Amino acid sequence: MAAGTATPLLLLLSVLCFVGASRAANVTYDHRAVVIDGVRRVVVSGSIHYPRSTPDLTLPWRRRWCLQMWPGLIQKAKDGGLDVIETYVFWDIHEPVRGQARRKDLVRFVKAVANAGLYVHLRIGPYVCAEWNYGGFPVWLHFVPGIKFRTDNAAFKAEMQRFTEKVVDTMKGAGLYASQGGPIILSQIENEYGNVDSSYGAAGKAYMRWAAGMAVSLDTGVPWVMCQQSDAPDPLINTCNGFYCDQFTPNSKSKPKMWTENWSGWFLSFGGAVPYRPTEDLAFAVARFYQRGGTFQNYYMYHGGTNFGRSTGGPFIATSYDYDAPIDEYGMVRQPKWGHLRDVHKAIKLCEPALVAAEPSYSSLGQNTEATVYQAPSVCAAFLANIDAQSDKTVKFNGNMYKLPAWSVSILPDCKNVVLNTAQINSQVTTSEMRSLRSSTQDSDDSSITPELATAGWSYAIEPVGITKENALTRPGLMEQINTTADASDFLWYSTSIIVKGDEPYLNGSQSNLLINSLGHVLQVYINGKLAGSAKGSASSSLISLQTPVTLVPGKNKLDLLSTTVGLANYGAFFDLVGAGVTGPVKLSGPNGALDLSSTDWTYQIGLRGEDLHLYNPSEVSPEWVSDKAYPTNQPLIWYKTKFTAPAGDDPVAIDFTGMGKGEAWVNGQSIGRYWPTNLAPQSGCVNSCNYRGSYSSNKCLKKCGQPSQTLYHVPRSFLQPGSNDLVLFEQFGGDPRLISFTTRQTNSICAHISEMHPAQIDSWITPQQNAQRPGPSLRLECPREGQVISNIKFASFGTPSGTCGNYNHGECSSSQALAVVQEACVGMSNCSVSLSSKNFGNPCSGVTKSLVVEAACS
Ligand code: GAL
Repeated sequence: MAAGTATPLLLLLSVLCFVGASRAANVTYDHRAVVIDGVRRVVVSGSIHYPRSTPDLTLPWRRRWCLQMWPGLIQKAKDGGLDVIETYVFWDIHEPVRGQARRKDLVRFVKAVANAGLYVHLRIGPYVCAEWNYGGFPVWLHFVPGIKFRTDNAAFKAEMQRFTEKVVDTMKGAGLYASQGGPIILSQIENEYGNVDSSYGAAGKAYMRWAAGMAVSLDTGVPWVMCQQSDAPDPLINTCNGFYCDQFTPNSKSKPKMWTENWSGWFLSFGGAVPYRPTEDLAFAVARFYQRGGTFQNYYMYHGGTNFGRSTGGPFIATSYDYDAPIDEYGMVRQPKWGHLRDVHKAIKLCEPALVAAEPSYSSLGQNTEATVYQAPSVCAAFLANIDAQSDKTVKFNGNMYKLPAWSVSILPDCKNVVLNTAQINSQVTTSEMRSLRSSTQDSDDSSITPELATAGWSYAIEPVGITKENALTRPGLMEQINTTADASDFLWYSTSIIVKGDEPYLNGSQSNLLINSLGHVLQVYINGKLAGSAKGSASSSLISLQTPVTLVPGKNKLDLLSTTVGLANYGAFFDLVGAGVTGPVKLSGPNGALDLSSTDWTYQIGLRGEDLHLYNPSEVSPEWVSDKAYPTNQPLIWYKTKFTAPAGDDPVAIDFTGMGKGEAWVNGQSIGRYWPTNLAPQSGCVNSCNYRGSYSSNKCLKKCGQPSQTLYHVPRSFLQPGSNDLVLFEQFGGDPRLISFTTRQTNSICAHISEMHPAQIDSWITPQQNAQRPGPSLRLECPREGQVISNIKFASFGTPSGTCGNYNHGECSSSQALAVVQEACVGMSNCSVSLSSKNFGNPCSGVTKSLVVEAACS
């Protein structure tokens, strides 16, 4: 990739800023671990995909704009205990047109990771899945003569090799492999091909072996992995992806047990409910993996981010790729997930000397319990697991008794004392919300809109129905959409006309029934320029069968179908051939007969007129725009434009599109993605509170049933500028832009809930050599932002309190001193710690396990 788009200043900066590792490291592996310079390493890794957040410069004068993205994310990953950042390489953004290479900041991202002192796992693919449009393949690849994707096909292999070599050469050219002193310690070729290879038969196996050989021949000096490929040939390491990988074993006794995708949550689809994965279960899965011999684990995702532009795969993948990850879409740590996992990582690192020195030895401590001991001459670490999904257990280990909550692992870095239990969260909880900046009087007058939007009214431009472009083409029959548009746009018009004499058998008076079948994803039908019906598919089936009564007039009737894609398929055998658009039949029927229009002449227009006119680009002046206070609302196919002032401060920003239908939005010419707040999650399938005990699956813990899948759309601060900003929308279904509001991220409360059964905070761990008094449990709070102090204790209770952050209640047993003790220790402090001792709280009830809960506010 040539440095096509980077300016000389940026290039200079990225060179100057690269102060990462500079000594060449030798990366190999053995049956226990990845080995760096001869030392086995226990590694924690997390996925951050560079196009799903913004680079942002770390220049001092930009500082307030760059708190959240790349440098901030990587630092938060480091603070969370990560050693490695994993990213895919997205072929389509680097080579949108064949032969036109774009660097697209990949080198800069890898250098940013190196600057933080972390390693990189570069998953080149180049098929990446990832809920990314077409699985990361550029759509031009589909048109290479004779090509067949992901199989033993000369054209495909040539393109795949060319791109893979380009990436490797670029990394080598920038000195980024560990063997050159750079941060990249691992690379991946292909992605989960083993899940689908049987569909490709013997040619699939041949392709997989070719891919492995091709990768190795590129001589990167660091190991290659293939994930979910149980027969990955040596020396490639086959790795596991899933919600749990503790039962996985690599395919050779000389390869380490590696987990390349531990799904920290799950992705969101338009029309789906919002998935989340309980922290305790994620922590349990991680601890079980290291307990059972694993030494490399990667969170997919550690920061999910945003699918800007038209980058989502699917179909129907939403614009938010939050993933319930430890760092949320906006770049803020998600608590307690981030904090508890940080503690888990610290606990595992305390065990590292034993983990790398010894083989695990397993024993049962009773039904559904398991002890694993790593015993070396001078070190010993143990993990005690209770894999029972219902019952807490008390077990005897090495002569001592241990209480193990259901579905949990206790970690004992000295084979005696518990430093952490995965179900006992010592980290604080943070509740936050995207708070609307809308003024409190909400009538329909422009002056009541969000202050930031109030000054400027809206302009609009009507997108015409049907064919308006000169280059439209006419063909007999119905054409498949992706073959026709090459994904240059989401939109394809199919247009024809019907001549009515008056006595047609498909007419009942002037009425007829129109049936249209489509592969998806969204279809709008216009008769004589008027909307006659619309339909959409869903993430589980994109197929559409639309039936609607239509009224025809004598003479010529225009039939215009607007077919829309919402992200191209990214997963499954032959996903590249799934296709989209109107397949037919397209049929009018009435009491006496039918008219099949499927093989009549159709005229095709790729994309919208407004797209050709670049209406989304505010710097291009177009006479299409109409400025009129009485602009149309709730009308399909319309562009809107306004000016706004960015919300003050540096809190993350999102636009709330409630009130709009479906479309795409641009801020200062940059697409923030497709919006679709009217696509609702199913009514059922959600849970109020999710039981973390027992196996997790992607539909186990869902939120927001019956509600829009996504109303809030992230606007990175770096897309905004001081003073006036432009917002452009293309609205497909119809909506009221007056209802749009800006929101910013606000923290409501910080809370913690610590019981007497919890181990002490991990930072107070005492090594066996220290021979000091072991502290008991304590509650810790810390304001999320620098410069803040705890201003108020909203609630404190010691005894048997219940509830969740924002909703705590005193229990039957409660100490009268709790509030005063916590106020004394915390108010005015940026962080505080309160020990759960009887000295602090007395003993409000004996013979009961007590806990301390606190809810506090920072300002
Ligand atoms: C995996 C795939 C990832 C991602 C994930 C789901 O199968 O390797 O790229 O798609 O599923 O988020």
